[in-house]
Amino acid sequence: MSEPNRPRVFVTRVIPAVGLDRITAACDADVWRDPLPPPRDVLLDRVGGCHGVLSLLTDTIDAELMDAAGEQLKVISNFAVGFDNIDVEQATRRGIRVGNTSDVLTEATADMAFALLMAASRRILEGQDDIRAGRWKTWEPLGYIGVDLLGKTIGIVGMGRIGRAMARRCHRGWGMRVLYHDPCGSEAAERELDATRVDFDRLLAESDFVSVHTDLNDATRGLFDFDAFRRMKPTAVFVNTARGPIHRQSDLARALRESEIFGAGLDVTDPEPIAPDDPLLTLTRCVIAPHAASATISSRNGMAEIAADNLLAGLNGEPLRCWVNPG
Ligand code: DGY
Repeated sequence: MSEPNRPRVFVTRVIPAVGLDRITAACDADVWRDPLPPPRDVLLDRVGGCHGVLSLLTDTIDAELMDAAGEQLKVISNFAVGFDNIDVEQATRRGIRVGNTSDVLTEATADMAFALLMAASRRILEGQDDIRAGRWKTWEPLGYIGVDLLGKTIGIVGMGRIGRAMARRCHRGWGMRVLYHDPCGSEAAERELDATRVDFDRLLAESDFVSVHTDLNDATRGLFDFDAFRRMKPTAVFVNTARGPIHRQSDLARALRESEIFGAGLDVTDPEPIAPDDPLLTLTRCVIAPHAASATISSRNGMAEIAADNLLAGLNGEPLRCWVNPG
């Protein structure tokens, strides 16, 4: 039953209570409680007449959805730092504010990138699989040989906050040289981490580890294809905690199969979830996590707080705390 005089919002999934409770207290909130995303037709139906939408990266927020919502729609608050699921240009054209949740998941995401780098480099899951399956029989002088980390070169693609947090771990913790590729220079990374901005070719050729932290856009979609993997060192490890479509999955599988690179660690795949028969799942040198880099208590609570702040500010016509399309 809709309550008069309170803004109507659709929340596409249950988020931590620190954010959700404030939204339900202030709004006439329709909360989608299923663990799976609302199907498209349901989403289009449920946003009808809403003033605000709190969306997840699994919800496509495009012109069709904005039309289905109606002209009163004021704000889209994305429960994610990435917002490639939202047609920001269409939102801006309609005067709809778009918010994201930057900052609060930076360190957690860099931790996951480093964990994947380490797990792939030292073949940790491969060893665990063998132990569980009873295949590991004895200590082996030539078994489970991985790659060293100390003093190596990390190549960061996308030197934003998360890229810098990953570079910091590698440089300060493991004494790595930092190369980075980014359309914009990062003075902070160059000053604090002695990072060197290089072109893509040099990054591929000289890095022992390549970690992706860029957003998904026309320039980065499919950036890591077979040719890119082929130009990496055969001992290199590829890590992607950004967005799955930045690597071509079948090319990555081929590169691993043909030993063009040593290993890979992915928190993101294309599609998500990865298909159970995807060839990557048969390759022991590929460690895959279920898009869980921001899944820590403080990150998810922080995301919920910002997402609620953004939603409520947008409903009140105020500036958003993390505003994707100001001005
Ligand atoms: C994001 O925020 O964009 C991550 O992919 C999920 O936390």
